Amino acid sequence: MSEKKTFYITTPIYYPSDKLHIGHAYSTVATDTMARYKRLQGYDVMFLTGTDEHGQKIEDRAKAAGVSPKEYVDHIVEGPQGVKDLWKLMNISNDRFIRTTDDYHVAAIQKIFKAMYDKGDIYKGKYVGKYCKPCESFWTESQLVDGKCPDCGREVQDAEEEAYFFRLSKYADRIQDLLENTDFLEPRSRVNEMVNNFIKPGLEDLCVSRTSFKWGVPVDFDPGHVVYVWIDALFNYTTALGFMNDKYHDFDKFWPADVHFVGKEIVRFHSIIWPAMLMSMGLPLPKKVFGHGWLLLDGGKMSKSKGNVVDPYLLSQRYGVDALRYFLLREFPFGTDGNFSNEALIGRINTDLANDLGNLVSRTTAMVGKYFGKNLPACADADPAQDDELMGLARGLRAAYEEQMEHYAFQNALVEVFKLIGRANKYIDENKPWVLAKDEAQKPRLARVLYNLLECVRISAVLLTPFMPDTCAKIFEQIGADEGLRSWESAGTWGLLPVDAPVQKGAGLFPRIDAAKELEELAALEQAAKAAAAPAQEEPKEPEYITIDDFNKVHFVTAKVLACEAVKKSKKLLRFTLDCGEGIPRQILSGIHEYYEPEELVGKTVVACTNLAPRKMMGLESNGMLISAVKEEPDGTEKLHLIMLDDKVPAGYGLC
Ligand code: MSP
Repeated sequence: MSEKKTFYITTPIYYPSDKLHIGHAYSTVATDTMARYKRLQGYDVMFLTGTDEHGQKIEDRAKAAGVSPKEYVDHIVEGPQGVKDLWKLMNISNDRFIRTTDDYHVAAIQKIFKAMYDKGDIYKGKYVGKYCKPCESFWTESQLVDGKCPDCGREVQDAEEEAYFFRLSKYADRIQDLLENTDFLEPRSRVNEMVNNFIKPGLEDLCVSRTSFKWGVPVDFDPGHVVYVWIDALFNYTTALGFMNDKYHDFDKFWPADVHFVGKEIVRFHSIIWPAMLMSMGLPLPKKVFGHGWLLLDGGKMSKSKGNVVDPYLLSQRYGVDALRYFLLREFPFGTDGNFSNEALIGRINTDLANDLGNLVSRTTAMVGKYFGKNLPACADADPAQDDELMGLARGLRAAYEEQMEHYAFQNALVEVFKLIGRANKYIDENKPWVLAKDEAQKPRLARVLYNLLECVRISAVLLTPFMPDTCAKIFEQIGADEGLRSWESAGTWGLLPVDAPVQKGAGLFPRIDAAKELEELAALEQAAKAAAAPAQEEPKEPEYITIDDFNKVHFVTAKVLACEAVKKSKKLLRFTLDCGEGIPRQILSGIHEYYEPEELVGKTVVACTNLAPRKMMGLESNGMLISAVKEEPDGTEKLHLIMLDDKVPAGYGLC
């Protein structure tokens, strides 16, 4: 007997730093659907997901919460409504779950780090550059955009420390070749982005250890250093199979991975750093990395900080998990961004699921019951020519669907299935079973019509199973299709359902939603959630006093704006030439262009802090900071007013 073919698929492992939102569920639902599809086809599937639990961000959050980092991540991963709970809710069929704090993984990462060090691919040096804390990413000055993190646009910090480096530069040519000349990375548009933005400007060696915090895998041969969280995270795909550990033993069976599904912002890690490290370790490369788009909310990124997290618990409780799974994969092409809205979700449920699929199943099963009792009689082939189009569509469906699924085109695969569902609904209207039923002589034709509908329902349900497993199981029950008739093979053949299969109309699959009423209720819930999330009346806190000496350390002086202009290629920065009463003008850069035009500031009297360490932004040196009054509004936007004094005040006066 020949061995089953294997298929290894992964999701990114999640940061357990916050509660997950529906955007997080997107990657995992897509991966789950692909894993179920491959299982349906008969593959021996390994579907891995997990959590990425180290790094400074987690250490900081735990500290703020007053618990240890391990307690912090344990709660988010294992606790109520945590990561594992969410995957259970979303009916995720992962075969394995890795936590990067698992002992076997930690020990394996230490061995992997040492192996690359022994090979000479990791070496000790000094890190001088910028660090983005939320992204846990290091950047060089030239990689910053407007002086900010190129991934998330947030402020970066100066960083300098002894550190280990990975010789990423050594692999630049091989990575470029991999990206340009193979189909390793998809969609293709992401290849240009990687090559033009990261490889062509010159791949620099990557800083792969940190000493400024502790919550990471310790470098065992150099105490004080912890392994850079991305190295620790990426190798999860191999340690979870048993690479460099004895916990599991199926590395040889499943590696290389068939596909890593990842969100677009982490394509760089998966398509440049990951293959380079695998090359260093002498391991085969994954067959594919697919960078999917983001689920947006009101055109922007979903995030807790924006206060607009869309709660998968709430949504699945109201509409059912299958409706949510269907919506995520039907509404947007997998490779591009898509905007989530309650209107779109309700629209899809009403149109595709309640009207098209739900009605087809309920009308068909109801008519079998009404006209024939529990099952159909042996039906004569009254006039098969009339049914050719419908049968042809059903016969060709599996191939059309497979073609799309093999390219991770979930949306198109669903469109194919719904072509048959739509055609079958039309077939009911064309054949008018209720008219046929009135004429005894037409009973064989009526039976044939209903049989054809049952077969369309069966074939559609087999192919929809990876997307909506629970719903399809209910459909199979209603049409009397046993296990053998739910298989991939059976979806490729017309006419397998026994004529006397026991048909039983069940409860409606997707109740129609009153959209206007529902949207009103959702809006009220959102308001209530916002109010609940608003900070409670804070306990009066003991103020953190500073001494007069501390205060005197900061030099505030009055300054006259001699000149002001926008900095080229920067949306925010203005370049000020100031008279601070020092005899020579002082240059300060300030990110306030969205609030002021340069011309309106010339001649004004402002306040500058002049003993802040000089800092380069967009290649220009800033020698201080202008002082503004800033307020964050409840919607997250900021209001800013530059502090301006009466112009009678001369330049160079200290403030005290
Ligand atoms: N820990 C890293 C991955 C390490 S893999 C070796 C990470 N974690 S994450 O929790 O921030 O993100 C996990 C996945 O969720 C990423 O693929 C990310 O793109 C995806 N999403 C998070 N928000 C999303 C949307 N709004 N829309 C679609 N996917 C999004 O990155």
